[in-house]
Amino acid sequence: MAMTVKKIIDLLNKDLELEYSAAIQYINHSAVMSGASYGDIIKELKIHANEEIQHAMALADQIDYLGGKPSIDVGKIYTADDNVEMLEQDLAGEEDAIKRYKIRVEQAEDMKEYALAQQLRTILAMEQEHAMDIKQALGK
Ligand SMILES: [Fe+2]
Ligand SMILES: [Fe+2]
Repeated sequence: MAMTVKKIIDLLNKDLELEYSAAIQYINHSAVMSGASYGDIIKELKIHANEEIQHAMALADQIDYLGGKPSIDVGKIYTADDNVEMLEQDLAGEEDAIKRYKIRVEQAEDMKEYALAQQLRTILAMEQEHAMDIKQALGK
């Protein structure tokens, strides 16, 4: 199935909404998590929140460049009362993002949108780092 500009804009807008929700989820989790042994990961989660905002900005710029309207809707946000459960929620989000961005890089390259593909690769690499940070904290 040939990818059209309209279709990739719609997909990037879904990615954008999930970057917004990831940022909010990290702000929430890093604020409510507690316990001395969680100090390091709490700091990491705050860094992740800022990086998700950077991803949102990059995606919004790319959507605008392609002639689309960047979404201001926010994806679903998950939270819990338990630290481990929150980290599992964060890991699930990162694993979903990794899956989506791998597909998105291919789609951008198929369309010869190489600058977009490059931005998506950078984002993908950061999502992989986020997933690794969380896995380490979970002892996985
Ligand atoms: Fe992100
Ligand atoms: Fe991430």
